[in-house]
Amino acid sequence: MGQSMDTVPLRNAIFGRRSVRAFSPDRIDALTLRALLAAAVRAPTAMHGEPWQFVIVQNPELLKHLSQRAIEGLAADAARLGAGRDILSQPGFNVFYDAGSLIVICAKSDGQFAQADCWLAAQNLMLTAYAMGLGSCVIGMAVPMLNLPGVKLELGIPPESTAVVPIIVGKPRSESWPAARHEPQIVAWR
Ligand SMILES: Cc1cc2nc3c(=O)[nH]c(=O)nc-3n(C[C@H](O)[C@H](O)[C@H](O)COP(=O)(O)O)c2cc1C
Repeated sequence: MGQSMDTVPLRNAIFGRRSVRAFSPDRIDALTLRALLAAAVRAPTAMHGEPWQFVIVQNPELLKHLSQRAIEGLAADAARLGAGRDILSQPGFNVFYDAGSLIVICAKSDGQFAQADCWLAAQNLMLTAYAMGLGSCVIGMAVPMLNLPGVKLELGIPPESTAVVPIIVGKPRSESWPAARHEPQIVAWR
């Protein structure tokens, strides 16, 4: 699934991408996932450290189970969520929005810039997904759950690694338009 990314200019990807939260049931194939990861690892990386590791979850039962665990954890700490807590109690809410694929970018070191490197890789991945006709969304809500020792064990994340960026990917169910942004706030230009 997906299309060649050569047809989408970078500017269109940057200005056209938006977070997608509704997906068609088709699952992304291995070739497409590998293309996304190949783009991810082209990101700049401090001291050429390449501290990233990737976990891919496509098993629908496992995704549901992980969503449930995330919801349980978040509900226990609902005060911190503010307005976001209402969504947790919606019947059938899935923190991964029933996407067919979850890619978790993990940092294998706790170096100063390891997490920054993972985020840069994440942006490469998401822009490439857009260029291939796919939708993506960072699921920050899932980070605490993914770092529980039992979940790391279940997913094969080494104990010394940290899950940094969970990203869902899939074929968007419908067309969407970019979310607005404020003008860049320049606080100094000397
Ligand atoms: C660090 C981070 C965490 C996020 N966590 C979630 C999340 O848990 N659930 C969700 O639906 N969207 C999440 N998002 C997506 C943001 O809501 C989205 O990027 C923002 O509303 C701007 O919209 P856009 O990406 O369509 O431009 C997250 C984005 C970032 C960068």
